Amino acid sequence: NNIVVLISGNGSNLQALLDQSPPLGGEIVAVVSNNANAYGLTRAQDAGIASHVVDHKDFSDRLSFDKALMAIIDQYEPNLVVLAGFMRILTPEFVQHYQHCLLNIHPSLLPRYQGLHTHQQAIDAGDAEHGCSVHFVTDHLDGGPVILQAQVPVFEDDDAAGLAERVQVQEHAIYPLTIRWFCEGRVVLYQGKAYLDGALL
Ligand code: GRF
Repeated sequence: NNIVVLISGNGSNLQALLDQSPPLGGEIVAVVSNNANAYGLTRAQDAGIASHVVDHKDFSDRLSFDKALMAIIDQYEPNLVVLAGFMRILTPEFVQHYQHCLLNIHPSLLPRYQGLHTHQQAIDAGDAEHGCSVHFVTDHLDGGPVILQAQVPVFEDDDAAGLAERVQVQEHAIYPLTIRWFCEGRVVLYQGKAYLDGALL
């Protein structure tokens, strides 16, 4: 299994994937960032993994950016493309191109709080629980079928940063686990729905 990871920032989820032992059941063959200053690029270099920057600011529209992205990704003939804190909205063309093999992690208990500022939203809503979700990416932003979620408590004195930290610990657990399942052929997207070991999720 060849895995390409897309990042925009810190790359702590990328690091969690790199740190897996036993390894993931697939090889991270390249890391691509839209942001040249992403710390995740340093993590990739330290791990001896090929890295690329495709800066969205160099493109006049989303589709030409996504096409450039696809051209680089496809050089690696990936079986799986992993979005790990990749902060660009992808075109339907991109999503179609990698349908069935495109995963994302989102810091909320989907379908709650799609989009940004999820931790603050959970606090403002007075939720007792918050968390993160790994899902297949479909045309609907943050709306694809969920594979696995982890919940954490929201404490009364939580601020968004503290809550985000607690959620990230769980991200670093469930993303590698889900990717391992995918690499083992245990999790699939079939007719728009996610299955684990043949059971509908
Ligand atoms: C994570 O919270 C992830 O859920 C969200 O972006 C953040 C990326 O963090 N999509 P990192 O770059 O992996 O540290």
